[in-house]
Amino acid sequence: TTKHLIAPSVLAADFARLHDEIQMVNESVADWFHIDIMDGLFVPNISFGFPVMQAIAKHAQKPLDVHLMIVDPDRYLQHCKDAGAAVITVHYEACTHLHRTLSAIHELGCKAGVALNPHTPVSLLKDVIRDIDLVCLMSVNPGFGGQQFIEHTYTKISELRALASGVNDALLIEVDGGVSIRNAAQLVEAGADVLVAGSSVFAAENPTEAVRQLKDVTSR
Ligand code: DX5
Ligand code: ZN
Repeated sequence: TTKHLIAPSVLAADFARLHDEIQMVNESVADWFHIDIMDGLFVPNISFGFPVMQAIAKHAQKPLDVHLMIVDPDRYLQHCKDAGAAVITVHYEACTHLHRTLSAIHELGCKAGVALNPHTPVSLLKDVIRDIDLVCLMSVNPGFGGQQFIEHTYTKISELRALASGVNDALLIEVDGGVSIRNAAQLVEAGADVLVAGSSVFAAENPTEAVRQLKDVTSR
């Protein structure tokens, strides 16, 4: 058994066959659904919104891990909860009052996550680390699937684990962007707990098997 979690990113699914894609994740050894919400402002793309997420939640048999790539996310926390979120992750760069936002997420009964863009140092989380359930380290610039993994992420994983050590040992470290069978083992070795995988799962010839392989290499 392992504590490492695999979270396929629905952004890479075929939206015209969404029900089949959800069933694939349900039947696979995946742990969570990763749901990417974009606003065209915080990131230069728009994915889908809460009505689509709610439709996904109706069929999903695993928790929804929601990654809000939107400015001023406080406006949508209730919507996000109502649409079925278990984990709500906001961007550090999009929150003026991050501590307040994390409290609001907890008051809704959700796990609270903070995502860091590739340029944002983990040290900026020092004074709020005890209030976070999950940190999502972006290993690509957010907005699009299928981009190349940024190697510096390994260093950030180690730095983050050291920052949380003794203060928040239950912290989950999630890595999002460019994750595949090629780097999964090294990521968990560095200290990652949750691997988000979009194109490496949904574009695979056999997506269920791709999830199985990610699970296998992180269980060794
Ligand atoms: C990017 C999203 C990711 C994306 C990952 O902005 O946050 O979750 O779906 O896709 P891949 O795994 O293809 O890099
Ligand atoms: Zn994401």
